[in-house]
Amino acid sequence: MAPAGTRYAAPFAEAASLRAAMRSELPAGLADHIDRVVALAESLARRHGLDLARTLLAAQAHDLLRAVPTAELLRRAAAASLDIDAVERAAPVLLHGPLGAHELAARGWLADPLVLDAVRWHTTGHPAYSPEAWAVFVADKVDPHKIDRWPALAAVAELALGSLELAALAYLELNAARARREGWAPHPLAERTRLALRQRLA
Ligand SMILES: [Fe+2]
Ligand SMILES: [Fe+2]
Repeated sequence: MAPAGTRYAAPFAEAASLRAAMRSELPAGLADHIDRVVALAESLARRHGLDLARTLLAAQAHDLLRAVPTAELLRRAAAASLDIDAVERAAPVLLHGPLGAHELAARGWLADPLVLDAVRWHTTGHPAYSPEAWAVFVADKVDPHKIDRWPALAAVAELALGSLELAALAYLELNAARARREGWAPHPLAERTRLALRQRLA
């Protein structure tokens, strides 16, 4: 694993070199998921005419900390003075995006705010997300392995061909409905994002 303080002369400009730097700290299954998300994000970026390099960097970076154990996520989030929401305290895995963005910046691996924001909120979305960030958000949700586990996500993949924001809203509605059914609270930022998208796309 790269020491948390490892800095490079300049931030990574392309996903392939970031991929090589991340490889040693990712379990194989997670590295495979990231590869699939990068490929999906690439096709969405091309389809919707987005900034390809920034989309791919964010897709590559998004799950840097996804395999970090929950106690360690909480420890690092406290050390980084991150605000920890009650929902995050109950489900610390939700910290892997915000903390991932923090660490990518602290290591000097990424500096572009658009890319860092796409990493930071890739679990919840954000009302002010860029199209590139939405491409990463949606690509992450429609990994075929996730569709296998939750077939309703196929509709999100279908919508993404026409509109990334409609696809993102469909995902957030599915997530909110599942939360109601199963009796857990969605992340407050996911709810704010869902309501903002609803209003914007109505
Ligand atoms: Fe993630
Ligand atoms: Fe992911």
